[in-house]
Amino acid sequence: MIKIREHTKKDIPLRVKWLNNPKVNKLIGDEPGKRTNLQKQKEWFKNYEKDKTKKFFTIYNDETPIGIVGLSNISKNNKNADLFIAIGEDAYRGQGFGKKALNWIINFAFEKLKLNKINLGVFEENKTAVNLYKSFGFEIEGFMKEEVYFAGKFHNFLSMAIFNKKNNK
Ligand SMILES: CC(C)(COP(=O)(O)OP(=O)(O)OC[C@H]1O[C@@H](n2cnc3c(N)ncnc32)[C@H](O)[C@@H]1OP(=O)(O)O)[C@@H](O)C(=O)NCCC(=O)NCCS
Repeated sequence: MIKIREHTKKDIPLRVKWLNNPKVNKLIGDEPGKRTNLQKQKEWFKNYEKDKTKKFFTIYNDETPIGIVGLSNISKNNKNADLFIAIGEDAYRGQGFGKKALNWIINFAFEKLKLNKINLGVFEENKTAVNLYKSFGFEIEGFMKEEVYFAGKFHNFLSMAIFNKKNNK
């Protein structure tokens, strides 16, 4: 059963493992392939603890940690944030955890934080992720041609967003 708990210090080595996982690493960030390490993630966590614009969670299957879901650049003023999601453990991808975690974080953003909009960036070729986002109602707001150079070629990048329909506007 899926459980979602806020990041703690013990997640630091897991972040290193998952963010360096080649199956995850090639699909995330504006510099795919870029590796992290324990020192960088310790630093990240130290800053995270002080940073009110970030909320990161560990996804569990029962008591087994399997991935990360989170929000960064949370803007109280604009009522928006950027979404990040990755199932870091290979054995747990394609089993519905991504979908459930996405549902959870959208609810958290819209019901708890009362945000109006969630943004994300995704490679056009990451069809699993793009289709998953579309199934929740994310729309493509930006199409950046040949935005990122990685593994010997340029990759198109999409900017997607979902809106809080309940928000009074
Ligand atoms: C994208 C990601 C979070 C999705 O999570 P997941 O647990 O693997 O996906 P789910 O099992 O919840 O499946 C979600 C949908 O994608 C489909 N799907 C899952 N894996 C798939 C695959 N390998 N090929 C095609 N479709 C796939 C499922 O069928 C499901 O669709 P459905 O509801 O219509 O059946 C996960 O695959 C992942 O972490 N990928 C690597 C990192 C990444 O791409 N992060 C997003 C960067 S923007």
